[in-house]
Amino acid sequence: MSEAGYEVAVFPGDGTGPEVVREGLRVLDALAEGGAAPWHCTEYPGGGQYYLKTGREWEPEAANASRTADAILVGAVGWPGATLPNGDLAGRALVLGLREGLDLFANVRPCKLYPGVRHRISGEYREVWSPKNVDLVVVRENTEDLYTPARGRLTRANETEVAIDTRIITRKGSERVIRYAFELARGRSRGAPGDGVRRVTCVDKSNVMEGCRFFRETFDRVAAEYPEIERDYAYVDAFAQWLVRNPERYNVVVATNMMGDIVTDLAAVLQGGMGFASGGNIGVDHAMFEPVHGSAPKYAGKNQVNPFATFFALEQLLRWLGARHSDAGLVRQADRLERALAKTLSSGEARTYDQGGTVSTREAGDRVAEGIRGEAR
Ligand code: IPM
Ligand code: MN
Repeated sequence: MSEAGYEVAVFPGDGTGPEVVREGLRVLDALAEGGAAPWHCTEYPGGGQYYLKTGREWEPEAANASRTADAILVGAVGWPGATLPNGDLAGRALVLGLREGLDLFANVRPCKLYPGVRHRISGEYREVWSPKNVDLVVVRENTEDLYTPARGRLTRANETEVAIDTRIITRKGSERVIRYAFELARGRSRGAPGDGVRRVTCVDKSNVMEGCRFFRETFDRVAAEYPEIERDYAYVDAFAQWLVRNPERYNVVVATNMMGDIVTDLAAVLQGGMGFASGGNIGVDHAMFEPVHGSAPKYAGKNQVNPFATFFALEQLLRWLGARHSDAGLVRQADRLERALAKTLSSGEARTYDQGGTVSTREAGDRVAEGIRGEAR
């Protein structure tokens, strides 16, 4: 932290990323009104579209800022046709690159349904799950598994014969993310919505895969240090149905990287859709926060997408910064932001197209900024 306050490096990125980030920064401004902002945000260009324009995913000063900032906000990366020479997603430096480079080992994805939020399944908007039944957090391992760049092709006479992705599960990688999940379960104010029990569910496929068996063994070893927290197990295939059928059973869920990637998109349906899903990529000294919906090229520039995922990402950012620096003022701002978000959602006055509404990205930002002004500091 410098004299100007906490430095936040902001990467709006591709597609709809800049639109939702713009609203996020306005919401931060609203929080800071009437006093000196304890944070300072600097925007940096980068991503797939930037790569198409310049041949670089980002500039060295942006890469440098990601290492020196107190926290990072990323909008979204990915653009049709923006591919690096090796076939990777152009813009990966801003997401996968930061996860690897800053060792952001825990991808923390809260899944909470707020009153007033609708679901869309089977093409209809409904209120199927009661808000009180959905309040869980998925902690996804974020640095290894099938995401490890231990992959390649076997080519003969310019013809690919075999493609291989190696699934790497390490003791260190598993242990730290599992411990993170137990600490989170310990620190949360509530257990599972259904029965109030503090519970950590290990999601894996240990009936088949060795890496998953190892992950589960590590889970048991770490769980023994937390006797007050119930340990729970689910094979990932069964988990997919239980999560939808019985979300109230879940409190904190821990999973390996690839399975965590998949189940968090499924879980997002329970919270109203990807428009509400935020993620914190947490390491020891660094953290990056993002809406997880991606760049949605089809909607880019239309001022239509739901900015709430970015608002929730900022709530996570403020909470993490506040805890890390024992800064009660920041934690209060995170609480204030959450109250304003909850109030705006329950009013039903900020429904964007994905909620069956007609409110624009900008107007949703306006509603939340007004809500913040109405919340005591
Ligand atoms: C996510 C995304 C990323 C991932 C993509 C953009 C590489 O789907 O954050 O969940 O696979 O982790
Ligand atoms: Mn994903």
